[in-house]
Amino acid sequence: MRALVTGGAGYVGSVVVEELIAAGAEHVVVIDDLSKGHAAAVVAPAILVRGNIADRELVAATCSDHRIDVVVHMAASSLVGESVKEPRKYYANNVTNGLALLDAIRAAGVERFVFSSTAAVYGEPERTPITEDFQLQPTNPYGETKLTFERALAWYQAAYGLRFASLRYFNAAGATEHNGEQHVPETHLIPLVLDVARGKLAHASIFGGDYPTADGTCIRDYIHVRDLARAHVLAIGGMAERPARFYNLGCGGGYSVRQVIEVARAVTGHAIPVEVVARRAGDPAVLVADSTRIKSELGWQPQRQDLQTIVTDAWNWLMAHPQGYPQ
Ligand code: UFG
Repeated sequence: MRALVTGGAGYVGSVVVEELIAAGAEHVVVIDDLSKGHAAAVVAPAILVRGNIADRELVAATCSDHRIDVVVHMAASSLVGESVKEPRKYYANNVTNGLALLDAIRAAGVERFVFSSTAAVYGEPERTPITEDFQLQPTNPYGETKLTFERALAWYQAAYGLRFASLRYFNAAGATEHNGEQHVPETHLIPLVLDVARGKLAHASIFGGDYPTADGTCIRDYIHVRDLARAHVLAIGGMAERPARFYNLGCGGGYSVRQVIEVARAVTGHAIPVEVVARRAGDPAVLVADSTRIKSELGWQPQRQDLQTIVTDAWNWLMAHPQGYPQ
């Protein structure tokens, strides 16, 4: 397998690169414009090509120079709140640029494609856990643009034979020895809570304490980034048999914001003061995945689903890289 990973210098992408190499990929090339990613996150022997997926000539030349036979597409904008304020950016990056990427890889003869999608395609679900056949009703431009691209993939499959798997991520968290979560700005719960534990923030904010859950805080399905990355490798293998497939990726458990903070207290030994503030717009109360499909079709099994393990790995990475990635 000779893989091109777009967005492979980002948080999930960098771990997908690690897993592709561990799975014996013959060659791995990353295209990343480093607008969010970090060059140092791309582990050897993978190669980093700095550029944007909208650059058709660069993408086509990279595919042919490196004889790429599968593309894993993770370069995207991915913040729900930002997407509501700047939908243009999400349509441009996630739809327009994604379609340019598809043109370029088709021109280069690539026939297999793994897409990084999101639980946000479901919007506010009527019940949980969520299976892939739930209604697709995104409530923000982030989910909407990911869904638009998924639909394009289905039509491209039918018309042009492009094989694809679309992986709908729930809440990626944790770290490997090499790569962890470092977003600017950081908006995700676990890294923010750990920033309190290491003294970078005074307290953690809990967005809403009045949700209809046992402790009043939102429940999310946290999946270890390594388990998530392994699913991409399995999805590539599964495409021979199934040319168009959508898979939910979560552990099926679900932890509340307060439970996450409790676990972080136990892992770090820090008190982690909290303040309950207003709800964040667009946050569903509960998002939990039913990942039966990928388990039964591709044999995927999470190996680090315990929240203590996820938070411990995230904490260990932060302790080993207190300044984050080198610039
Ligand atoms: N939260 C807080 N305080 C914070 C940050 C988050 O209470 O400082 C809460 C949120 O309200 C939410 C939970 O912690 O209930 C998790 O929030 P994150 O921002 O870590 O993750 P989200 O669930 O909002 O987002 C994830 C993915 C998105 C995806 C979305 C699907 O990161 O890409 O799930 O709704 F779109």
